Amino acid sequence: ATGLITLDPGFKNTGSCESAITFLDGEKGILRYRGYAIEELAEKADFLEVAYLLIFGELPNAQQLEKFHSDIKAESHVDEEMKKILDGFPKSAHPMGVLSSLTSALIAFNPSSVNVSSEQAMYHAIVRLLAKFPVLVAWTLRKKMGLPLDYGDDSLGYVENIHKMMFKKPNREYTKNPVAIEALDKLLILHADHEQNCSTSTVRMVGSSHAGLFASISAGISALWGPLHGGANMAVLDMLEAISADGGDTKKYMAKAKDKDDPFRLMGFGHRVYKNFDPRAKIIKKAADEVLSSLGVEDPILEVARGLEREALEDPYFVERKLYPNVDFYSGIIYRALGIPVDMFTVMFALGRLPGWIAQYREMRLNGEPIGRPRQVYVGANHRPFKALSAR
Ligand code: SDX
Repeated sequence: ATGLITLDPGFKNTGSCESAITFLDGEKGILRYRGYAIEELAEKADFLEVAYLLIFGELPNAQQLEKFHSDIKAESHVDEEMKKILDGFPKSAHPMGVLSSLTSALIAFNPSSVNVSSEQAMYHAIVRLLAKFPVLVAWTLRKKMGLPLDYGDDSLGYVENIHKMMFKKPNREYTKNPVAIEALDKLLILHADHEQNCSTSTVRMVGSSHAGLFASISAGISALWGPLHGGANMAVLDMLEAISADGGDTKKYMAKAKDKDDPFRLMGFGHRVYKNFDPRAKIIKKAADEVLSSLGVEDPILEVARGLEREALEDPYFVERKLYPNVDFYSGIIYRALGIPVDMFTVMFALGRLPGWIAQYREMRLNGEPIGRPRQVYVGANHRPFKALSAR
């Protein structure tokens, strides 16, 4: 398949490609991974199964899943020298910057992950990244919280191990919290892939030059960081907090969002593709209720979110522009209930999106796609003779 570059009337170059991984229908609010509906996967599968499905194209049988997980566990060690790089960051460093840097630094300690031209080398790089990335995520959080770095526990499930690495307190037994792990697993599934979004297109573009998998993922993390993309989940919480502090004055923020002179946008609303409800937002909204009540968490922010959503869905400005809640609108409320600091929310998005980025990178390399080279419509000056400094 060759990349197809099309220019839409607005000259927004919507470079596109062929892919067999994720299907979206923005009008009908449909999302499928390798043909399976997101609603079914979120209910019936776990994150490691979905990662396997996205990357290799089929749901794994018990034996394949067992081998996949044990291959990953065999690679869960992160070189001790990496801790020196982490120590170089101030505590105030943004976790997305730390994670992107550590992911790129991993290359130096895993040089064989650069050349993935054979299927075996690609598989090895994939299981290494799926093993080490959660450790880097946990280290990024624990460094911020002044906690000792943890390597997790290979006897646990993939997501349970992530939860333990992130939250195990020193000198205290780790208490398994099934509700929290189930909620985290579901959130990771819902973020796992989303066809050619900004960060995934970045991974494909960087990888198309045959840069290694780790380097391409590091670039994707930087793209996801932006507040118009994955950074929105943090911006939603900041916005809901501000509205709550303003006595819940949603009308004021709706007016700001509609004021063309005000750069403020209603974070967590709108989407480049969904011009109907984001199916993930529906699932997360339902889960937010369940998770908070089973964790016994009362979060007034949830009420503010519901009020804002109700108003926006009735407001002609938003209705005309088909602006509905997206995946980021409710996810932060669950992350917060799980004890995850706000500036780690986008890191959690990256953790969920990792298998999707890997699947898309692998597909692009297996398809032998040419190096990405978007075209442009030139709108600059015509040819003109040089003008001497004295004449300018
Ligand atoms: C993600 O692509 C993906 O799949 C991404 C993602 C994934 O899984 O990878 O789904 C994850 O990034 C979700 C989106 C998270 N971002 C936000 O929630 C930030 C807030 N949303 C917007 O910035 C915006 O809606 C975008 C960036 C998401 C989409 O922008 P578009 O499609 O380019 O819309 P636009 O900028 O062309 O806006 C169309 C109109 C404009 O008004 P008019 O010029 O027509 O008068 O809608 C307005 C915009 O001003 N508008 C908003 C708005 N989003 C669009 N007005 C107020 N609040 C908003 N959130």
